[in-house]
Order: sequence, then structure tokens, then C-alpha cells
Amino acid sequence: MNIESQMILIFGATGDLTRRKLIPSLCHLLQKKRLTSCTPIVCIGRRKMTTESFLELLAPDRYVDNIEKNVLEDLLSRIAYFHFDPASHKTGDFVEGIKGIQQSYGCTSNILIYLALPTTAFLQTAQLIGALNFDKGWRRVVFEKPFGENLASAVQLNRDIHSVLDEEEIYRVDHYLGKQLVQNILTLRFANEIFSGAWRRQAIDHVQITVAETLGVEKRAGYYDRSGAVRDMLQNHLLQLLSFVAMEPPAEVDGDGVRNEAVKVLEHLRPLQPSDIVVGQYGTGSINGENVLAYRQEEGVGDESTTETYVAIRAHVDTDRWLGVPFYLRTGKRLQQRYAEIRIVFKHTANNLVGRCGKPNMIIIRIQPYEGLALAFNVQKPTEQDETESVLMDFCHHCHFGPNTPEAYESILYNVMEGDHSLFPRHDWIEASWEYIDRLRDLAAPPVVYDSGSMGPAEADKLLEADGRKWQNDV
Ligand code: BG6
Repeated sequence: MNIESQMILIFGATGDLTRRKLIPSLCHLLQKKRLTSCTPIVCIGRRKMTTESFLELLAPDRYVDNIEKNVLEDLLSRIAYFHFDPASHKTGDFVEGIKGIQQSYGCTSNILIYLALPTTAFLQTAQLIGALNFDKGWRRVVFEKPFGENLASAVQLNRDIHSVLDEEEIYRVDHYLGKQLVQNILTLRFANEIFSGAWRRQAIDHVQITVAETLGVEKRAGYYDRSGAVRDMLQNHLLQLLSFVAMEPPAEVDGDGVRNEAVKVLEHLRPLQPSDIVVGQYGTGSINGENVLAYRQEEGVGDESTTETYVAIRAHVDTDRWLGVPFYLRTGKRLQQRYAEIRIVFKHTANNLVGRCGKPNMIIIRIQPYEGLALAFNVQKPTEQDETESVLMDFCHHCHFGPNTPEAYESILYNVMEGDHSLFPRHDWIEASWEYIDRLRDLAAPPVVYDSGSMGPAEADKLLEADGRKWQNDV
């Protein structure tokens, strides 16, 4: 599809996301010739400064890899900084300023607006955008996660934002859906008979979804201590992964086809019980040989904080396809290693020959850091003929496609530019996810402490042991 000319507005331009993700992604899109010559980028911030000082602050050469010098220069020449502080400026100043910039380029009426802002600033900013009344071209507005803080705030936010923007104009970001291997889940399932045929409760024993991080709270205690792992990761990224693994085949693969099926998965989630939930908080420990602080010792975190930095749950999707198949989801900070993967663990085959039962088959979807797909199956050992060994058939994504596959935010931006909604959660998905999460938060016991550098609390192991299973921690 051809990308049209468009003006890009970034709110929250002085923040980390703009520097680390958005500008590098725009550079890569430009290098791949996916931006037209008419794509001005207006970076909006509350801090008073000139475009020159903004570009110094941005320091793109520190964040952008594998970019030709002339591409970087071209990108920088497109950036203008626009100082706007809602506390002291009026809506009219904003409208006039942006229209002025647009007229100075005079080449496009389309406008892509990225809100790299906290959820509490969404409504006010959407109202500002609503005042930008261009009579031609399209308007697409991208909201960073989290969208709301619970069901009530998400419903209210959706309602308020719908009063200024149409759903068609709204793109709610979950950057996990921009990751190559997450996008590949549907291809794996629906373009391969060997997998689609086996994707059912009669064949599958259970599913494990793990997103493990080694990082701690870093400098984000102000946000994270209010949020915790449940709202920061589970409500969005992990429930999206679950939706993609568990959904029925969409009637069509773009737009609302995928989103209709994703929301049905959440609507069929069985309400959680307290025994399905484990939350934890990291204590001291060591990561890659370095001693690290406990969560409560981190800057900006109170020494009595009960915010969870780890969560594991046992979920059930009560559809005909999945009845009786548990989905175990876990995510945490300061764990042993950084990786994200999905394991589809099959049942022991029913008609085993004596002594040849081997291990259960398994499909591993490796999301990061080594993107790929692996299939574990049993073979006969060459020397002992009645013994089997489980071996891996391992597909390495970058070995095959090369190292330059788009980073998640590049895919996200490109999809907005194309006007493709399939990778963006719709309002009903967001609300259904919050409903599930609110109940979880009401039921969860206070977090138990786990050692930094471990794979989480022992209670999370017991969650699976109670079902006669265990977490598969070998990466
Ligand atoms: C973000 C969370 O959405 O995802 C962070 O707010 C987390 O806390 C990050 O570290 C993880 O993303 P990735 O792409 O590094 O796995």
C-alpha cells in the first residue's frame, strides 16, 4: 500500500518514548523510503525551547542504529519544535500555531497525531485535537498505553474521547502487537494446516505465556508504583498474547476481523479465583553478577509499598476449543533473564508404544530476544532403539530474514500510516480486559517477596504444581 503525505504531531516530545522509539522508527521508515518527501514532524512539548535546542536534547545519534548519515540529516530537517503548555496557553494558540505550520509546508492535509503522554492527559489533548478542524484529509490519533487505570476510567475515557473523535480515527497502542513474532501467531495458526489442525483442546494440554524482564523499575517509580505489573503488563501485553493464541479464525485478517475475535476471547475468560493468582515484589539479589536493590529501596518507592512487580495467573478460556485447557501467564521485573515466549504444550500421545512415550510435543513462539519458532518432538535414539529423545526443530527469524526486520514501534507507526487497525485494541477489548483485571486486583493477596535474579516467587511454581505441571524455564 502507498503511504500518503502527512504531517506528524508528537505530543510528549521531550519524553523517553519519543527519543528512544518514535524518532528511531521514523528514521528507519525514511531509510526504507516509506515516508513521502512531504512528511513534516512537529514535536510538541511543555518546555520552552527552540527547535535547535530540542534537537540537541533529542541527540538522535545516541539512539538510532544502522542509519545512513544523509537519512538522519533529512529526518532532522523535517522536525520543528512547538512549545505548548495547556496550563498557560489557549486552545486557539494551538490551533493557530499548528495550522500555521501546516500552511508553511502546504503539501498535505492528512495528520497523524501521537500522544506519548500519560493516560490522565488523554482527554484534554483529545479535546485540543478536536479543535483542529481541517476540512480535508484524514486525522489519525494514536494513544500510548495504558488506556485508563481500571474499568470505570477506561469506560469514561472511551466515552469522552468518542465525543471528539470517531473510533475509526483512534489507534490505541500495544507495542507487543508490533513485534514480528506476535504478528506471526496468526500466520502460524491460520496459514499452516499442521498447526491449525492441532490447535484445539483435544490435542493441547496447556499453554504458558512468559514475559520476563531483568530490568527493575528504573526511573519510572512515579508511574510504576501506582500501576504495578498487573496493570503495566498483564492487562495489555499478556492478555493480547492470550487473545491471539486463543482466538477463532477471523472472518478477515485486517481491520475489525481480528479485533472482533480478540474481544470474544476476553468475553469467554472464566472469572478468576484467589487460588488462580500469585503476585510478588522483588527483593534484593543479583542479576548478571551485579547486586541490585529491592523494589522498596528503589528511588521514588516508599519502604512500605505493596505494589507488585510480578504476577502469575491460571486463566481459562471457556470456548468449545479451549474448555479444560489452562493458560498460565506470568510476567515480572528483575527476573533471571529477559525473554518473552509462548509455549503450546501438547498432551502425551494416546497410543504410545511401550517405552516410547517420550516428552510432550511443544510449539515455542519465541518473541524476544531470539525471534523464532521451535517445535519439540520425539525421535528414536540411534543406539538404544526403544528410547526416545525430545529434539527441537528451531526456526530463527533473523537468520532467515536478516537482522533488519522492523522494530515494534516501526510496525506500529507504519500500520497507522496505512490506516490498518488490526494491530490496535478496540474500545471493547480494552474494557473487557479491565473488567478481568479489576477482579484480579480485588482478589489478589499482598505480594510475596522473591529474590531478584530468580524466576519469581515459589508460590508461582506451586500454582502449576497443584495441577501436576511446571513452568518451563529453559530458554
Ligand atoms: C512497557 C512497560 O509497556 O513494556 C514496561 O510499561 C516494560 O514496564 C516494557 O518494561 C517491556 O517492553 P519490551 O518491548 O522491552 O518487552
